[in-house]
Amino acid sequence: MIELKNVSFEYENTAIFENLSLLVAEGEKIGIIGESGCGKSTLLKLMAGLYVPSSGEISVDGASRPDEIIKKVSVVMQSPMLLPLSIIENITMGHEYEKEKIEKIIESANLKKWIDSLPEGLDTYLGDRADELSGGQAQRIAIARAMFKDAKILLLDEPTSALDGENAASVLEAISHFTHDKTVVHVTHRKEHLDGYDRIYLMKNGKLSEA
Ligand SMILES: Nc1ncnc2c1ncn2[C@@H]1O[C@H](COP(=O)(O)OP(=O)(O)OP(=O)(O)O)[C@@H](O)[C@H]1O
Ligand SMILES: [Mg+2]
Repeated sequence: MIELKNVSFEYENTAIFENLSLLVAEGEKIGIIGESGCGKSTLLKLMAGLYVPSSGEISVDGASRPDEIIKKVSVVMQSPMLLPLSIIENITMGHEYEKEKIEKIIESANLKKWIDSLPEGLDTYLGDRADELSGGQAQRIAIARAMFKDAKILLLDEPTSALDGENAASVLEAISHFTHDKTVVHVTHRKEHLDGYDRIYLMKNGKLSEA
């Protein structure tokens, strides 16, 4: 469950939200749409514990401290952040893993063909070449990372924006299988990516209304 109570947030002197409240029950899937710059990514970062509200309360699966909130969520941010590590380390973030689980994930995230074409496969070091990856490859690694973490709450910020239509469709389908029992907040400019969601909100002037 995600609960925002009278949350206000501003960047320096620009207010983004004032007294914003929202409740996402466990297992619910909500979408958020709205014009560029309206604050969608900011809201997700608040829900992920990456930003702290200037007033109000955020509770995510019972956690309210940012360092605890971060543990409760899997996040795919708008600009995926890759670390100077191998592909596998970027997916597992150094945690132990079962080969089978990883194989399933790289299949779901449409990474298999590309990884199989690399001489060192999953062990390919991204340190020197993180900049050489396509936006879509980076995005799919970020999705695989979220799938691996497998938190009960998934926050998605334009998770397939860098993928072509076919790739986007199959990755979205994999995401929907993987999230069938999870709580999801999905930000997108493509309303058609939110088919079957419980609610869709439009963000405007720092407020959310059902779209
Ligand atoms: N780190 C920051 N410092 C100052 N202002 C910021 C910062 N990040 C975002 N903003 C501003 O806050 C507003 C909301 O930004 P945000 O990234 O949340 O929008 P968005 O709805 O996600 O847009 P898009 O659809 O383009 O991704 C914008 O006006 C933006 O310029
Ligand atoms: Mg954004």
